[in-house]
Amino acid sequence: MLPMVWPEPGLPEQVTIYEVGARDGLQNEQAQIPTPTKAEFVRRLLAAGAPAVEATSFVHPKWVPQLADAAELMTGLVDELGDRARELPVLVPNDRGLDRALDLGLRHVAVFASATESFAQRNLNRGLESQFEMFAPMLDRALEAGMDVRGYVSMCFGDPWEGAVDVAQVVEVGQRLLDLGATQLSLGDTIGVGTAGHVRALVGAFDDAGIGPERLALHFHDTYGQALTNVHAGLQAGVTTYDASAGGLGGCPYAKSATGNLATEDLVWFLDGLGIRHGLDLSALVETSGWMAEQLGRPSPSAVVRALAHDATE
Ligand code: HMG
Ligand code: MG
Repeated sequence: MLPMVWPEPGLPEQVTIYEVGARDGLQNEQAQIPTPTKAEFVRRLLAAGAPAVEATSFVHPKWVPQLADAAELMTGLVDELGDRARELPVLVPNDRGLDRALDLGLRHVAVFASATESFAQRNLNRGLESQFEMFAPMLDRALEAGMDVRGYVSMCFGDPWEGAVDVAQVVEVGQRLLDLGATQLSLGDTIGVGTAGHVRALVGAFDDAGIGPERLALHFHDTYGQALTNVHAGLQAGVTTYDASAGGLGGCPYAKSATGNLATEDLVWFLDGLGIRHGLDLSALVETSGWMAEQLGRPSPSAVVRALAHDATE
């Protein structure tokens, strides 16, 4: 089954899907996933046509034990895929993480800031203001080394400890990451509480501050089932990069109530229905997520993965 195509005037003709399954997807898993399985996941995502596959995080292994094998994973991928693996983005919070990425000759790192004090404390072990003191020297060195730096902002819509998050506060944190040299901002709805009007207001507030939709990506977790509606609002506001996780895996171990990311397959189905190009192969994705569900021992939460897997067995 394929979606029927009904284009909607005024939406972008093409978008970039930034795949976070191997990082955001696996960082929250209870089970320890073997490194070769992670490598195979990355290879399959690349083979499915994903233009950007965030592979892992160079964070403190005690903080995220699920990704403690980051160096081993990336070394294996670089040995096997060479420069293609060096293009895979990885999360890096500080100088120590950057050293680890530089050792392997990686070219794309992503720093992750919090829009709230509570989450900065829990996720980065420092306050809203002092997170920038940790990021600044790291970004200087990364840019000096010719790397590209993506800047995430977490808790852009709501925070489990602080409630609603002021749009102006999110814009300020985003602006500071851009001032430090980030090339793109990914606005995270870490706990999935955002709704369409809020997305429009946030993208509009960035625009009013001189940061247009071409510099933004949207990163939705699907906790309340709003992710695709929010993508629609983002498309209407002109944003053309969307983060998604194959099979809908995901969550943040330091964000109470964060569940899976928007599933890449659900996003692809939605975009295909609108006739918006993205370059990914839906059946290869569904096969990959079916395989990963077997590795994890539970079905994918993605509606599209389940529906298409069911079709395939009919
Ligand atoms: P800290 O304890 O404050 O670090 O943690 P520190 O600088 O005080 O250093 C303490 C020790 O850790 C030192 O070792 C360092 O070398 C070592 P010692 O001298 O004691 O032997 N260390 C490291 N080791 C390896 N790699 C590193 C590293 N840094 C320090 N990079 C830190 C601060 C930021 C490191 C810690 O809080 C941390 O690792 N946090 C990561 C949390 C995380 O990964 N969360 C999930 C990702 S964010 C997310 O999911 C949201 C997102 O998806 C968007 C959204 O949904 O909103 C992106
Ligand atoms: Mg996330």
